[in-house]
This record gives sequence, structure tokens and C-alpha cells, in this order.
Amino acid sequence: MNIVLLGPPGSGKGTQAKRIAEKKRIAPLATGEMLRAEVLSASALGLSVKGIIERGDLVPDAIMIAMIEKRIGDNPSGFILDGFPRDLAQAEALDTMLAARGQKLDRVVLLKIGEEALVDRISGRFTCRGCGASYHDRYQRPRVEGVCDLCGGKDFERRPDDNAPVVRARFAVYRRQTEPIVGYYEKRGILSRVDGTGAVEEVAEAIDRVLG
Ligand code: AP5
Repeated sequence: MNIVLLGPPGSGKGTQAKRIAEKKRIAPLATGEMLRAEVLSASALGLSVKGIIERGDLVPDAIMIAMIEKRIGDNPSGFILDGFPRDLAQAEALDTMLAARGQKLDRVVLLKIGEEALVDRISGRFTCRGCGASYHDRYQRPRVEGVCDLCGGKDFERRPDDNAPVVRARFAVYRRQTEPIVGYYEKRGILSRVDGTGAVEEVAEAIDRVLG
């Protein structure tokens, strides 16, 4: 099964994508995580995109399309995309690369949530430095305080682009460049809207219902 998870920054894409990937045994492909790994390793690509990410702008399409094309080739039995596509050019490129492999998108799930809730979620977020698992100061703390539920790591960090002014910039970019692709998928009849405002488990159940 090939799935795209769409939604504004902080809507819960990463949280839900990991869970769905595990349940459906498909690969989670999160472009933000891939880019942050490049920045961390100080690769040429990482150094070239660091400032763009910290401002909340989009990394150029050519870089992102090449990055995803390789991952899709590596995962022929299915994937869930979190963070891609982010504009019309990326959505069209995704269709082209899937068609070339005799594949298609099965479902696009849009997580709906307002801007104020997003700022609240993102400013409380911290992630495990070892495996990238995402937590929240109030809504989603590790089961054992100070220990990652997934990998047992004890080292956590906050993202440099997770402060209120940059979150608002990211939200504006989402409105301007990403929201237009909602219509693109709606016309194809593969879009499902899910209320992203409930607790993590409630959102997960709503997604399960649309994915079947
Ligand atoms: P990316 O990492 O994709 O960031 P994003 O889209 O802004 O999304 P986030 O990771 O901030 O949020 P999320 O929706 O995954 O929410 P999460 O589950 O963590 O991209 C970062 C940057 O990389 C971009 O700005 C851009 O520069 C670049 N980039 C990436 N892809 C690109 C592309 N294709 N093209 C160009 N540039 C690209 O949840 C957020 C918080 O809320 C967490 O603390 C979580 O614990 C908590 N939470 C989650 N669900 C709930 C809930 N139901 N109730 C309460 N709390 C919850």
C-alpha cells in the first residue's frame, strides 16, 4: 500500500506515520528526518539546506524529488510519505516516478488542525536523539521519564526550527505552497480528511477507519 500523509507543521504526521508504517508493514519515508540527518552529518547537501530549514522555507524541488525517488525504488512493497509532496511539482513528480514503476498512490490522508494548536504542539515537542521518536512536554511524555519508549535512549533534543516565529513561517509556506495539492488529490478521489485535533489515539483510530 502506498500512502501520503498530508498536513500542516505539527499536525501529527510523524507521530501517526510511524504507527501506520508498523501496522501495515510499509516503509515510513519522512523527508524532514532525512534532511535533518544530512544536516547532522554536515554533508554537502546538509550544509546547503541548513539555513533553508531553519527559516522554514522549502528545500528546492530537484533535491527532494531525487531523495524520494531513490527511497521509493528501495521500498517496492509500499511506503507512507510524511512531508512529501509539499507542492504541485513534487506531487506530479511522485505520480511520474510511481507510474514508471507500474505503481500508484492508494490513499492520501489530510490531517486537519488550526494554527494556534500547531504552535502549542510544536513548541512543546522534543525528540529522541537516537531514533528520532517524537514526544511532547504535556501531551505525549515517554512512558518512563527520561527514557525513549522506542529505543531506550536517554538523550533528547529540540529542533532549531521549532520556535513560534519559524512555526508561523512554516505554516504560511504550507498555506501557500502545500495546500493547493489537496485539490489535486481530491479530484482524483483518493483524498480522506481526518480531524487531527483529538488525542493521539483518537486520531490514530480515525486514520485506521479511512485506510481500512
Ligand atoms: P518536517 O520535518 O516535515 O516538518 P513539518 O511538516 O513542519 O512537520 P513536523 O515534523 O513539524 O510536524 P508533524 O506533522 O510531523 O507533527 P509531529 O507528529 O511531530 O520538515 C521540516 C523542514 O524540512 C521543512 O520546513 C522544510 O524546510 C524541509 N522539508 C521537508 N520536506 C520537504 C519537502 N518535501 N520539500 C521541501 N522542503 C522540505 O507532532 C508535533 C508534536 O505534537 C509532537 O510533540 C507530538 O508529540 C505532538 N502530537 C502529535 N499528535 C498529537 C495529538 N493528537 N495530540 C497532542 N499532541 C500531539
